[in-house]
Amino acid sequence: MTSVLILYMSRGGHTARIARRLCEHIDDAGGRAEMMDLVEAEHEGVDWSRYDVVALGAPVLYGKYDKSVIEFVTRHRTQLEAKPNSFFNVSVVARVPEKSTVAGNRYMQKFLQLSPWRPRDLKVIAGKVDYPAWPWLDRFMIRLIMRMTNGPTDTTAVIDYTNWDDVRAYGTHLLTLR
Ligand SMILES: Cc1cc2nc3c(=O)[nH]c(=O)nc-3n(C[C@H](O)[C@H](O)[C@H](O)COP(=O)(O)O)c2cc1C
Repeated sequence: MTSVLILYMSRGGHTARIARRLCEHIDDAGGRAEMMDLVEAEHEGVDWSRYDVVALGAPVLYGKYDKSVIEFVTRHRTQLEAKPNSFFNVSVVARVPEKSTVAGNRYMQKFLQLSPWRPRDLKVIAGKVDYPAWPWLDRFMIRLIMRMTNGPTDTTAVIDYTNWDDVRAYGTHLLTLR
Protein backbone atom coordinates (compact mmCIF):
# COMPACT_ATOMS: atom_id res chain seq x y z
CA MET A 1 0.00 0.00 0.00
CA THR A 2 1.44 3.37 -0.99
CA SER A 3 1.76 5.72 1.92
CA VAL A 4 1.71 9.48 1.40
CA LEU A 5 2.68 12.31 3.73
CA ILE A 6 0.99 15.67 3.12
CA LEU A 7 3.01 18.43 4.74
CA TYR A 8 1.38 21.83 4.77
CA MET A 9 1.48 25.37 6.04
CA SER A 10 -1.83 27.16 6.48
CA ARG A 11 -2.55 30.60 7.87
CA GLY A 12 -6.34 30.62 7.66
CA GLY A 13 -7.14 26.91 7.50
CA HIS A 14 -7.92 26.48 3.81
CA THR A 15 -4.66 24.76 2.84
CA ALA A 16 -5.22 22.54 5.89
CA ARG A 17 -8.65 21.65 4.50
CA ILE A 18 -7.09 20.83 1.12
CA ALA A 19 -4.53 18.61 2.88
CA ARG A 20 -7.34 16.85 4.74
CA ARG A 21 -9.32 16.23 1.56
CA LEU A 22 -6.20 14.90 -0.15
CA CYS A 23 -5.77 12.43 2.71
CA GLU A 24 -9.40 11.31 2.41
CA HIS A 25 -9.12 10.83 -1.36
CA ILE A 26 -5.85 8.93 -1.07
CA ASP A 27 -7.39 6.63 1.54
CA ASP A 28 -10.47 6.14 -0.68
CA ALA A 29 -8.20 5.26 -3.60
CA GLY A 30 -6.53 2.49 -1.61
CA GLY A 31 -3.48 4.36 -0.32
CA ARG A 32 -2.63 5.49 3.18
CA ALA A 33 -2.18 9.19 3.92
CA GLU A 34 -1.20 11.37 6.84
CA MET A 35 -1.06 15.14 7.12
CA MET A 36 1.29 17.17 9.24
CA ASP A 37 1.71 20.92 9.50
CA LEU A 38 5.17 22.36 9.19
CA VAL A 39 5.31 23.48 12.82
CA GLU A 40 4.75 19.90 14.00
CA ALA A 41 7.10 18.51 11.35
CA GLU A 42 9.87 20.92 12.35
CA HIS A 43 9.50 20.69 16.11
CA GLU A 44 8.48 17.08 16.56
CA GLY A 45 10.31 15.64 13.57
CA VAL A 46 9.19 13.45 10.66
CA ASP A 47 9.83 9.73 10.37
CA TRP A 48 10.50 9.91 6.63
CA SER A 49 10.96 6.15 6.40
CA ARG A 50 7.21 5.65 6.92
CA TYR A 51 6.26 7.28 3.61
CA ASP A 52 6.61 6.39 -0.07
CA VAL A 53 5.52 9.79 -1.41
CA VAL A 54 5.72 13.28 0.09
CA ALA A 55 3.70 16.34 -0.92
CA LEU A 56 4.03 19.82 0.54
CA GLY A 57 1.52 22.64 0.18
CA ALA A 58 1.54 26.32 1.09
CA PRO A 59 -0.63 29.40 0.51
CA VAL A 60 0.53 32.55 -1.21
CA LEU A 61 0.40 35.45 1.25
CA TYR A 62 1.09 38.93 -0.11
CA GLY A 63 2.88 37.50 -3.10
CA LYS A 64 5.18 35.38 -0.95
CA TYR A 65 5.39 32.21 1.08
CA ASP A 66 5.62 32.19 4.83
CA LYS A 67 9.29 32.04 5.74
CA SER A 68 8.72 28.75 7.56
CA VAL A 69 7.99 27.17 4.16
CA ILE A 70 11.25 28.17 2.50
CA GLU A 71 13.18 27.38 5.68
CA PHE A 72 11.63 23.90 5.85
CA VAL A 73 12.29 22.97 2.22
CA THR A 74 15.84 24.29 2.53
CA ARG A 75 16.54 22.29 5.68
CA HIS A 76 14.85 19.09 4.47
CA ARG A 77 15.68 19.17 0.79
CA THR A 78 17.55 15.86 0.94
CA GLN A 79 14.66 14.00 2.59
CA LEU A 80 12.13 15.54 0.22
CA GLU A 81 14.15 14.60 -2.84
CA ALA A 82 14.79 11.06 -1.62
CA LYS A 83 11.33 9.90 -2.70
CA PRO A 84 8.63 10.86 -5.19
CA ASN A 85 7.54 14.35 -4.21
CA SER A 86 5.20 17.15 -5.15
CA PHE A 87 4.64 20.80 -4.24
CA PHE A 88 1.26 22.56 -4.42
CA ASN A 89 0.56 26.22 -3.89
CA VAL A 90 -2.77 27.81 -2.98
CA SER A 91 -3.68 31.29 -4.16
CA VAL A 92 -6.71 33.34 -5.07
CA VAL A 93 -5.11 34.48 -8.30
CA ALA A 94 -5.34 30.86 -9.50
CA ARG A 95 -9.10 31.40 -9.88
CA VAL A 96 -8.18 32.90 -13.27
CA PRO A 97 -7.73 30.02 -15.76
CA GLU A 98 -4.48 31.30 -17.29
CA LYS A 99 -2.98 31.68 -13.80
CA SER A 100 -4.04 28.19 -12.73
CA THR A 101 -1.26 26.43 -14.60
CA VAL A 102 2.30 25.86 -13.42
CA ALA A 103 3.66 27.95 -16.29
CA GLY A 104 1.08 30.72 -15.88
CA ASN A 105 1.21 31.04 -12.09
CA ARG A 106 4.01 33.44 -11.22
CA TYR A 107 3.93 32.41 -7.57
CA MET A 108 4.87 28.91 -8.66
CA GLN A 109 7.76 30.38 -10.61
CA LYS A 110 8.68 32.37 -7.52
CA PHE A 111 8.71 29.22 -5.40
CA LEU A 112 11.05 27.54 -7.86
CA GLN A 113 13.38 30.54 -7.64
CA LEU A 114 13.40 30.54 -3.82
CA SER A 115 13.47 26.81 -3.13
CA PRO A 116 16.61 24.70 -3.32
CA TRP A 117 14.24 21.69 -3.31
CA ARG A 118 13.35 20.77 -6.89
CA PRO A 119 9.91 19.14 -6.66
CA ARG A 120 9.36 16.38 -9.21
CA ASP A 121 5.74 17.41 -9.56
CA LEU A 122 3.91 20.72 -9.19
CA LYS A 123 0.28 21.69 -8.71
CA VAL A 124 -1.52 25.04 -8.62
CA ILE A 125 -4.72 25.15 -6.55
CA ALA A 126 -7.16 28.08 -6.26
CA GLY A 127 -7.80 29.15 -2.66
CA LYS A 128 -10.47 30.96 -0.71
CA VAL A 129 -11.51 34.55 -0.23
CA ASP A 130 -12.80 34.98 3.31
CA TYR A 131 -13.04 38.70 4.10
CA PRO A 132 -15.02 38.28 7.35
CA ALA A 133 -12.37 35.92 8.77
CA TRP A 134 -9.45 38.20 7.94
CA PRO A 135 -8.16 40.84 10.37
CA TRP A 136 -9.06 44.35 9.26
CA LEU A 137 -5.61 45.20 7.88
CA ASP A 138 -5.53 42.05 5.71
CA ARG A 139 -9.11 42.77 4.65
CA PHE A 140 -8.14 46.28 3.63
CA MET A 141 -4.94 45.23 1.83
CA ILE A 142 -6.48 42.30 -0.01
CA ARG A 143 -9.41 44.45 -1.07
CA LEU A 144 -6.91 46.82 -2.71
CA ILE A 145 -5.22 43.90 -4.48
CA MET A 146 -8.61 42.57 -5.59
CA ARG A 147 -9.63 45.94 -6.94
CA MET A 148 -6.49 46.00 -9.10
CA THR A 149 -7.00 42.44 -10.30
CA ASN A 150 -10.78 42.48 -10.88
CA GLY A 151 -11.44 40.17 -7.94
CA PRO A 152 -14.25 40.39 -5.36
CA THR A 153 -14.21 43.58 -3.24
CA ASP A 154 -17.34 43.06 -1.16
CA THR A 155 -15.94 42.73 2.36
CA THR A 156 -18.72 40.35 3.37
CA ALA A 157 -17.70 37.89 0.61
CA VAL A 158 -16.72 34.30 1.38
CA ILE A 159 -15.84 32.58 -1.89
CA ASP A 160 -14.26 29.16 -2.17
CA TYR A 161 -12.50 29.03 -5.54
CA THR A 162 -11.05 25.56 -4.98
CA ASN A 163 -11.99 22.98 -7.58
CA TRP A 164 -12.55 20.05 -5.23
CA ASP A 165 -12.86 17.53 -8.09
CA ASP A 166 -9.41 18.61 -9.19
CA VAL A 167 -8.15 18.17 -5.60
CA ARG A 168 -9.49 14.62 -5.72
CA ALA A 169 -7.68 14.02 -9.01
CA TYR A 170 -4.46 15.42 -7.53
CA GLY A 171 -4.80 13.07 -4.55
CA THR A 172 -5.11 10.07 -6.86
CA HIS A 173 -2.25 11.41 -8.97
CA LEU A 174 0.03 11.52 -5.91
CA LEU A 175 -0.37 7.75 -5.60
CA THR A 176 1.01 7.32 -9.11
CA LEU A 177 4.20 9.35 -8.57
CA ARG A 178 7.38 7.35 -9.08
C1 LIG B 1 -2.85 37.98 4.36
C2 LIG B 1 -3.21 37.35 3.05
C3 LIG B 1 -2.53 37.68 1.89
C4 LIG B 1 -2.85 37.08 0.66
N1 LIG B 1 -2.15 37.41 -0.45
C5 LIG B 1 -2.45 36.82 -1.63
C6 LIG B 1 -1.71 37.13 -2.81
O1 LIG B 1 -0.78 37.94 -2.80
N2 LIG B 1 -2.07 36.53 -3.96
C7 LIG B 1 -3.09 35.62 -4.03
O2 LIG B 1 -3.36 35.10 -5.11
N3 LIG B 1 -3.79 35.28 -2.92
C8 LIG B 1 -3.49 35.86 -1.74
N4 LIG B 1 -4.19 35.54 -0.60
C9 LIG B 1 -5.21 34.51 -0.69
C10 LIG B 1 -4.75 33.19 -0.07
O3 LIG B 1 -3.71 32.62 -0.83
C11 LIG B 1 -5.94 32.26 0.04
O4 LIG B 1 -6.90 32.89 0.88
C12 LIG B 1 -5.62 30.92 0.62
O5 LIG B 1 -6.76 30.10 0.51
C13 LIG B 1 -5.18 31.03 2.07
O6 LIG B 1 -4.85 29.74 2.55
P1 LIG B 1 -4.82 29.42 4.11
O7 LIG B 1 -6.24 29.58 4.62
O8 LIG B 1 -4.36 28.03 4.18
O9 LIG B 1 -3.86 30.39 4.76
C14 LIG B 1 -3.91 36.13 0.60
C15 LIG B 1 -4.62 35.81 1.78
C16 LIG B 1 -4.27 36.41 2.98
C17 LIG B 1 -5.05 36.05 4.23
